[in-house]
Amino acid sequence: MKALVLAGGTGSRLRPFTHSGTKQLLPIANKPVLFYGLESIAAAGITEVGLVVGDYADDIRRAVGAGGCAFGLDITYISQSRPLGLAHAVSLARDFLGDDDFLVYLGDNYLEDGVRDFVAHATLHPAAARLLVTSVPDPSAFGVAEVETTGRVTRVEEKPACPRSDLALIGVYAFSPALHEAVRAIRPSARGELEITHAIQWLIADGQDVRAETTSSVWRDTGSVDDMLEVNRHVLDGLRGRLDGKVDPDSVVVGRVVLGEGAVVRGSRIIGPVVIGPGSVISNAFIGPYTSIGAACRVHDSSIETSVLLDRAAVECAGRIERSFIGRDAVVSAPRFPYAHRLVLGDHSKVQLHP
Ligand code: G1P
Repeated sequence: MKALVLAGGTGSRLRPFTHSGTKQLLPIANKPVLFYGLESIAAAGITEVGLVVGDYADDIRRAVGAGGCAFGLDITYISQSRPLGLAHAVSLARDFLGDDDFLVYLGDNYLEDGVRDFVAHATLHPAAARLLVTSVPDPSAFGVAEVETTGRVTRVEEKPACPRSDLALIGVYAFSPALHEAVRAIRPSARGELEITHAIQWLIADGQDVRAETTSSVWRDTGSVDDMLEVNRHVLDGLRGRLDGKVDPDSVVVGRVVLGEGAVVRGSRIIGPVVIGPGSVISNAFIGPYTSIGAACRVHDSSIETSVLLDRAAVECAGRIERSFIGRDAVVSAPRFPYAHRLVLGDHSKVQLHP
């Protein structure tokens, strides 16, 4: 089985971060979300991966490394110049996929249990399509499957206003080459995309075998800042501490903390689970649980909890910061006499000020 990993979307709900980078490279516990998916595909025994990339193809290539060797994968890059839908991405990968069965995996999804069991089952029991689904409180935000107790799927709908089940398609699918004919047969949806859900429905209407497996693994489509913070919290819960940087005698480090090489903690209190990237400097600060701080960041005279700082961000004399997501090279600081706020913010930024 081959795998097709889709990393070409625009990530509009993650603006402003997706103005200058791709959502699949945003970090969870200092590791790009895409890497969790690639690692789980490698763990499932798949080696041939097509990685569909859009505007930020070069960033993804650079991060993933030559051909994906670091993951034990053989990666072929497939360019999708515009995000015209998941089924469109499959059609672009037609030559790469050939006549093989294939896994489709959305590169911005986080699935704690990975895809190993799903791939093993799909290999043993081939069907025209196998879908991984999970019960969600608001299925109308997703593709929704109606599934018989035998696991046979009788209908799928894309983001229905009145969902007929609570089973969401989580963005992990196993297909036989029969999908290609379905993709050729469908037309763009109201949002102008070739929907994979429509291609699956075409297979069902054609009488082909479409099956679903329900998972109760932690899963998030990391489409928004709140989702990113939530997955970050979840991954940090399983963190194993390791101090490779320096902690001075005036500091206290409690619980599971990862401190990268060359990082320095001075006069600060760090309460894990926390990850601090290489070369970062934390001084006179409090870093509370569920915080990921990237590489070469500066935190001084501030308190940060349940937040993510991307590489080279600086937070200085900023008081208390919570549930925040701070971009690369961003600077947060407070003047000594705060008579007025001075803000230089990118498009779509959100700032909550307290008087
Ligand atoms: C896509 C699929 C949808 C699926 C979701 C999972 O939605 O179209 O069926 O449930 O991924 O994350 P999109 O993220 O493109 O809105």
